[in-house]
Amino acid sequence: MSGLAPRGGAAEARPGSTGRKWTMAELEQGTPLAPVPAGHTPLIKLRDLSRSFGSRQVLRGLTCDIYRGETFVVLGGSGSGKTTLLRHLMGLLQPPAGQLRIEATDRHPALDLGQADQDAMLVWRRRLGVVFQNAALLNSLTILENVGLPLIEVDRRPAPEVHERVCQALRKVYLKPEDILHLKPAELSGGMRKRAGIARALIHEPEIVLYDEPTTGLDPVTTTGVGSLISDLRDRLGVTGVVITHDLGMAFAIADRIAVLHRGRFIALGTPDEVRADENPVVRQLLTGSVDGPLTEGYA
Ligand SMILES: Nc1ncnc2c1ncn2[C@@H]1O[C@H](COP(=O)(O)OP(=O)(O)OP(=O)(O)O)[C@@H](O)[C@H]1O
Ligand SMILES: [Mg+2]
Repeated sequence: MSGLAPRGGAAEARPGSTGRKWTMAELEQGTPLAPVPAGHTPLIKLRDLSRSFGSRQVLRGLTCDIYRGETFVVLGGSGSGKTTLLRHLMGLLQPPAGQLRIEATDRHPALDLGQADQDAMLVWRRRLGVVFQNAALLNSLTILENVGLPLIEVDRRPAPEVHERVCQALRKVYLKPEDILHLKPAELSGGMRKRAGIARALIHEPEIVLYDEPTTGLDPVTTTGVGSLISDLRDRLGVTGVVITHDLGMAFAIADRIAVLHRGRFIALGTPDEVRADENPVVRQLLTGSVDGPLTEGYA
């Protein structure tokens, strides 16, 4: 069982079980760190990760472990801090020392992202594939060059190999290489650009993939395909995935665990069944999509 156990106080005192209205503090209370279940190994450790922009506190003490080889889905309303969390994982925002650590693996030593130097950061970024919220393709390059970029610029692979691997990656996201290889991103539809962005994130077979809303704007069939691809990468290659999504169907289909981010804290974290049973009204509102609830209070 994860952080869904009663938090601070006897279960009978919780508002959900008494019909009493939840206070703001109760709605926003973070989940405690769960013990690591047998058979799991933490790869990424967040410890009280916080971030402010000016006077605005966006992350307010995120604590959790992300296990090696799991698909960890983050749900949360717009502006709750999801992309900000990913930007810390990518090393684009440096956390204070000790707040974000990567555990040692057979191939890499442990890493504290708050203290990593430039070389260590480069090694870390090569272990990552990133699917950006807006596809982030370079307008002046063709799809072949965009998707092949990590192989061309970083791995310096020969052109025929780049061509072959780009074609394979495009087919995985249901794009026909022969139709689009030599087009520029502006000549593709939004959904096609999104899929090309996913192909680029996967091209160098990364150990960890960060997905920022990978299916927003995609049709239902392609959405299911992207979900299967994420699960397939985990099952076949042991890829650890951190997936931000607003697509509840996909979240529950692919997640090993789900974390619900609200106002900079994880207010629920557990298996899909555990999160489905969570009584926090913010979680309930996110899962039902209701317009009535704490997320929309004060806007009428
Ligand atoms: N570089 C920045 N400077 C100032 N404020 C920022 C910066 N980056 C993010 N923010 C603020 O932090 C908050 C969280 O932003 P973030 O992009 O993490 O949200 P999100 O959960 O990804 O939302 P969405 O679902 O809409 O993508 C927002 O209020 C945003 O304005
Ligand atoms: Mg975002």
